[in-house]
Amino acid sequence: MEELVALCKRRGFIFQSNEIYGGLQGLYDFGPLGVELKNNIKQSWWASMVYDRDDIEGLDASILTHPEVLKYSGHEDTFSDPMVDCKSCGERFRADQVPDYCKEEDLTEPRQFNLMFKTNVGPIDDGTNFGYLRPETAQQIFTNFKNVIDSTSRTLPFGIAQIGKAFRNEITPRNFIFRVREFEQMELEYFVNPGSDDEWHDKWVELRLAWWDEQGVPKEKIKLLNVEGEELAHYSKRTVDLMYEFPHGLEELEGIANRTDFDLGSHSKNQEDLDIKAKVVKNSSSNAKLAIQEQDTQKWMIPFVIEPSAGVERAFLAILNEAYKVEELDEGKTRVLLSLKPHLAPVKAAVIPLKKNNKDLVDLAYKLKNKLQSMKLGRVVVENTGNIGKSYRKHDEIGTPICITVDFDSLEKNKVTIRDRDDMSQETLEIDQVSSFFQQKISG
Ligand code: GLY
Repeated sequence: MEELVALCKRRGFIFQSNEIYGGLQGLYDFGPLGVELKNNIKQSWWASMVYDRDDIEGLDASILTHPEVLKYSGHEDTFSDPMVDCKSCGERFRADQVPDYCKEEDLTEPRQFNLMFKTNVGPIDDGTNFGYLRPETAQQIFTNFKNVIDSTSRTLPFGIAQIGKAFRNEITPRNFIFRVREFEQMELEYFVNPGSDDEWHDKWVELRLAWWDEQGVPKEKIKLLNVEGEELAHYSKRTVDLMYEFPHGLEELEGIANRTDFDLGSHSKNQEDLDIKAKVVKNSSSNAKLAIQEQDTQKWMIPFVIEPSAGVERAFLAILNEAYKVEELDEGKTRVLLSLKPHLAPVKAAVIPLKKNNKDLVDLAYKLKNKLQSMKLGRVVVENTGNIGKSYRKHDEIGTPICITVDFDSLEKNKVTIRDRDDMSQETLEIDQVSSFFQQKISG
């Protein structure tokens, strides 16, 4: 983990947030390369959900959430962790994470601590006009269920996908970007006919494993865990966690839950007419029936929902961890390598003029860079340091799939040298062939 943290800071992937004022715990900022990798992860998830399938719509809902949403979702009552205070060191811990140096007799009885951030909404700050920063993106998918159905005429099964920020006031944020207070979720709510839910649940576990594999986190590295007992969320009939060996231990990478008809049922009016299977509290505030008409009988029913829910930061950490390698080279030298899948690499290609101050070489490098950039496959840069060896090392370390060196042969014979990140092989290409080579390398 220390090596990853150091690399992230050194190369501009991730910085501690608010660092110049001493930092705020559990918050991180994504730097010039981090934002690219993060965007590429999100783009890959979005494409696999919304573009590559024909049964999923997208959504981007508000972060500030009406308190009633989180009352009927069960979050006001249940979204909490037990915490204890240590009277000796004055710190507060999650009850299951008290460090060894605190003595049993110094600890208070566990108290429930709600993890939601509450904030004032509007100009009057009298404690009654408040909202929450959403603790999961899922709720606004449920509250928009009728809007999406009415505007798209979808029938079951179909899904709604959303990527966005979520907030949890973790008692003890830890393990770099693994457990943080502000993070991004990639959530799909996939609505199915009751009775077909178990089958869809298994199917989504397989689909998600295949996606992780494409991002460079192989199936063999992920263990499936059936969440049981106290750990099972209040809304879930069954949850399968995809567990990955992070640098700090085996932990959840993604949760795939069968939320039954709990959420749509909880947020619906006239619940008594809807044959809701989950245990929901009576809703006296909602003005909507979050149901769908059965195609053959025209009877209103509430679908079950399967929810694959992944955190962008955890994806980032797992992908980085898989890609990070320290390779032995000749003469006792080593190189740090990020063997990221090309579609995730923050920089897709670096064009390197052999000499820093040679105008013809630099002009040609920018011309080639602009041409490759216009293909819209991701960021392309000119690396104008005049030190080829150093440029290669840097781009190995940030995961750039190819480096393209422009030298005097480029000016005289229209040829460039392409150097491959993974095997360090070099080949000469006609400048005219670089675009198709690049396209093939990045998008396969
Ligand atoms: N929507 C599931 C979660 O936030 O854990």
